Amino acid sequence: GDSKKDQLIQMHEDSVELYHHILVNTTAGEEALQYLLDRGLTMETIETFKIGFSPKERTVLLQYLQGKEYTEQQMEESGLFITRENGDKMDRFSNRILFPVENQQGKVVALSGRLFKVTENPHFNEPKYLNSPETYLFNKRKVLFNYKRARSTIRKEKEAILFEGFMDVISAYQAGVTNALATMGTSLTNEQIHMLDRITDKIVVAYDGDNAGIEATKRATDLLTEETHFDVEVVSFPEGLDPDDYIKQKSPESFVEFVRHGRDTLFNFKMRYYRKSLNLNNESERLGYIEKILNEMLTIPSAVEREVYLKQLSEEFDLTLETLKEQFQQTFYAYQ
Ligand code: CTP
Ligand code: MN
Ligand code: MN
Ligand code: MN
Ligand code: MN
Repeated sequence: GDSKKDQLIQMHEDSVELYHHILVNTTAGEEALQYLLDRGLTMETIETFKIGFSPKERTVLLQYLQGKEYTEQQMEESGLFITRENGDKMDRFSNRILFPVENQQGKVVALSGRLFKVTENPHFNEPKYLNSPETYLFNKRKVLFNYKRARSTIRKEKEAILFEGFMDVISAYQAGVTNALATMGTSLTNEQIHMLDRITDKIVVAYDGDNAGIEATKRATDLLTEETHFDVEVVSFPEGLDPDDYIKQKSPESFVEFVRHGRDTLFNFKMRYYRKSLNLNNESERLGYIEKILNEMLTIPSAVEREVYLKQLSEEFDLTLETLKEQFQQTFYAYQ
């Protein structure tokens, strides 16, 4: 095989072992472990996802891996270290909760670390999550968090659920939703879409219930339907909640129920998306909205489904079904 790759992967597996051990078995990890338990994770879940903790001291991993006789160059290439001005290496991750990020074969190729404590330093403005840099092993565009673990369930259930973040996937998994993946905050890439296309035809987009999440949902659903033939549904979480918040605030059971049965069709999502920025009391905005919807309806192949939406529109805007149908026909022919 590719021995350079194998060794870099081994170095990541070793790092995950160390950091996981520190989290679950040492006093240095106590506070971080308590933080995760307070967020509702069980020890079993922490084991399954091999969550870890990097202590404050910045030579913990360095010394551990030096003891295993990796070369300087391998250490350099792993992305797990940064170099001080004087040339000395130190651990990239310090005082963070660590999530192993695996490739399609389930091998660890990167780490992502979450802050769990705000320091007293007033100039403190580190990112909430810090990821490994792009390396020989890790290309963020080609990774979906939890892909390998979720793959068989996705095939069996014939759909994948797409979340934004680590804790969404992990909490959902613990609640019994095991066919879920995360894009890790970035917008969905063509490479990730290709990975999904190999295992399923249906994607349920379940991003955070904030403005960033709604915008990301629009971009993701456009991409999933424009370039490929995915069947797409959307789960819209209540304002301000992400999937993990929802589980914590309601219950695992109501989360499962909501994710399975509280879905929107893509069309309904788009209707809500378009009207979000419009004042429908304004006549021209209202007309613009209706035209946009009729336009969008061109993509719906089922006449029955179109009729349902036309009825909705006619009731909401007090227009006759005949008028709307006539308008739809005009839109339809304009696009022939
Ligand atoms: N993310 C990142 N870098 C950041 C912020 C976010 O890589 N500075 C990624 C992480 O994968 C994160 C995801 O984007 O899980 C979603 O971001 P966000 O919703 O802001 O965080 P949560 O996942 O909700 O984090 P938490 O619940 O731990 O606060
Ligand atoms: Mn396909
Ligand atoms: Mn978010
Ligand atoms: Mn979130
Ligand atoms: Mn969250």
